[in-house]
Amino acid sequence: MTEPLELRRLTYSDLPQVIAIERRAFPTAWSLAMFVLELSKPSGVCLAALRGGRIVGYLICSKYDTVWHIMNVAVDPDLRRQRVATSLLDELLRRIGDPQARYTLEVRPSNTGAIELYERYGFRSAGRRRRYYQDNGEDALIMWRTPATLEGRLDDVPAAGPVQPTA
Ligand SMILES: CC(C)(COP(=O)(O)OP(=O)(O)OC[C@H]1O[C@@H](n2cnc3c(N)ncnc32)[C@H](O)[C@@H]1OP(=O)(O)O)[C@@H](O)C(=O)NCCC(=O)NCCS
Repeated sequence: MTEPLELRRLTYSDLPQVIAIERRAFPTAWSLAMFVLELSKPSGVCLAALRGGRIVGYLICSKYDTVWHIMNVAVDPDLRRQRVATSLLDELLRRIGDPQARYTLEVRPSNTGAIELYERYGFRSAGRRRRYYQDNGEDALIMWRTPATLEGRLDDVPAAGPVQPTA
């Protein structure tokens, strides 16, 4: 039987397991220092998903001004399509617990699986950052989830947000 998924705050001692997933998940992986920086931010929400005591996914979200930036989400490549990312996003929304909250993220247009996941959560595309990803020069799609996007509008979404490192 599959072990149940446990969700909790990500800690520094989780980072070796996180880095191992990160390196398999992204062409340009975050460094240990980037994770340490995010974990050190008091306003951030950094979550771990565990199965059988082992990290199987994580999510990093930071607040800049009034906006929540989803900076990084990844799931162990061997355990995808089992709702781990869905559980992490559900937990993020539950912990922030504010129906008026605005969320943003950047994603590669070629990452159709992630885009489909975000669209299921009411994220909508609102512009691009040209040649954002340095490894292949791909643009970033900027997505927002706001009270307006949840009603099919984009009128509370800024034209372009501040540039941050991205998932
Ligand atoms: C994107 C990612 C986090 C999704 O994690 P996951 O745990 O497999 O996602 P879930 O099982 O919760 O998927 C929920 C839904 O999202 C969509 N989805 C997720 N991955 C998908 C894929 N590869 N192809 C198509 N749809 C996908 C589907 O609608 C899926 O529902 P379904 O399985 O019932 O069809 C994972 O593929 C990953 O770690 N990718 C590499 C890192 C990355 O790209 N992160 C996002 C950067 S912005």
